[in-house]
Amino acid sequence: MTVRIAPSILSADFARLADDLAMCEAAGADWIHVDVMDGRFVPNLTFGAKVIETVRRCTTLPVDVHLMVVEPERYFDDYVKAGADVLTLHVEAAPHLDRQLTRIRELGCRAGVALNPGTPVEQVRDVIPLLDLLLIMTVNPGYGGQRFIEYTVDKVARARELLTAAHSSAALEVDGGIARSTIARCWRAGADTFVAGNAIFSAADPVAEVAALRAACGVTV
Ligand code: DX5
Ligand code: ZN
Repeated sequence: MTVRIAPSILSADFARLADDLAMCEAAGADWIHVDVMDGRFVPNLTFGAKVIETVRRCTTLPVDVHLMVVEPERYFDDYVKAGADVLTLHVEAAPHLDRQLTRIRELGCRAGVALNPGTPVEQVRDVIPLLDLLLIMTVNPGYGGQRFIEYTVDKVARARELLTAAHSSAALEVDGGIARSTIARCWRAGADTFVAGNAIFSAADPVAEVAALRAACGVTV
């Protein structure tokens, strides 16, 4: 398994988004994580197709779109058209998970499911064959810069067990409070994809921080 680092542009400087994306690429980031929030599923409101399209134009890295919205299926077509490579919806906002994941794949996009800290991993067991990515939230979604919730590490381990038992090659992503001090525990528990916003964009040297996060997992750049 290799460590995949996905900087979250939620913490980027939107006046210099192109520069921040170029910095991520230069730093060797693997994916760009884009947090779509609707002010309903989560209290915060961010951005949509226009920003996904801008990110798509500014980078060749895969664009990993995290949908923190109700009725996520309303946006699939537009966001795939805008350039999303992965669309991840929340299980808490998905009464028709099978239909929704199938639709994302029909559009030629990779399909992901996210779980809030309080949602048991068992809830996605049956749809594992439809998953390209499983996202375990390590904070309550809505804002960057929050404190990592410790009990989620055990959840990551249980998620890895489920994926292994199902012979799934889906990515196992963690998101929220990922920093040098927390990343290794998630990696050892079985995560392979690490979203980091505040840790990268608030670092004195963001380029070095991407390498430092990778190194903290015991993997050299
Ligand atoms: C939280 C978002 C995260 C956020 C992570 O709701 O889904 O992607 O940007 O930010 P940090 O790394 O600062 O916790
Ligand atoms: Zn996110």
